[in-house]
Amino acid sequence: MEKVVKFLKEAETYYLATVDGDQPRVRPFGTVNVFDGKLYIQTGKVKDVSKQIHANPKFEICAFKNGEWLRVAGTLVEDDRREAKQAMLDAYPSLQGMYSADDANTEVFYIKDATATFSSFMGAPEVVKF
Ligand SMILES: Cc1cc2nc3c(=O)[nH]c(=O)nc-3n(C[C@H](O)[C@H](O)[C@H](O)COP(=O)(O)O)c2cc1C
Repeated sequence: MEKVVKFLKEAETYYLATVDGDQPRVRPFGTVNVFDGKLYIQTGKVKDVSKQIHANPKFEICAFKNGEWLRVAGTLVEDDRREAKQAMLDAYPSLQGMYSADDANTEVFYIKDATATFSSFMGAPEVVKF
């Protein structure tokens, strides 16, 4: 998991795909935080992306950096604990103007049953599960 976290942080932006009925949806995301040994992402409950995850928690993310790309597929699990949200906001002070651990909007999800695949044009893909 550490290699995945490092890649996503260095890439800065990743693209999160969700399922909306029979329509894939994708958008840029940036939040990544390790808390309690799990990899978390953050969003707001008011967003369509949140509603899609609650309806169907399967996701895939893709990021690209220095000729290598990473895909992570799995399931997102909401963690409503205040400390999980606060840890994310501590990692991203810039979010603290928009979100707080005590508002009704901030939400964090951790990744469960992840299959991470590192690929490049140079060699065989490397698969990591966590
Ligand atoms: C570089 C970048 C990083 C972003 N990171 C996040 C993020 O971590 N969480 C989030 O909720 N929105 C993030 N956004 C904003 C979402 O992409 C935006 O709100 C999007 O419209 C949400 O998807 P939706 O419209 O399907 O709900 C980011 C936007 C950019 C440009």
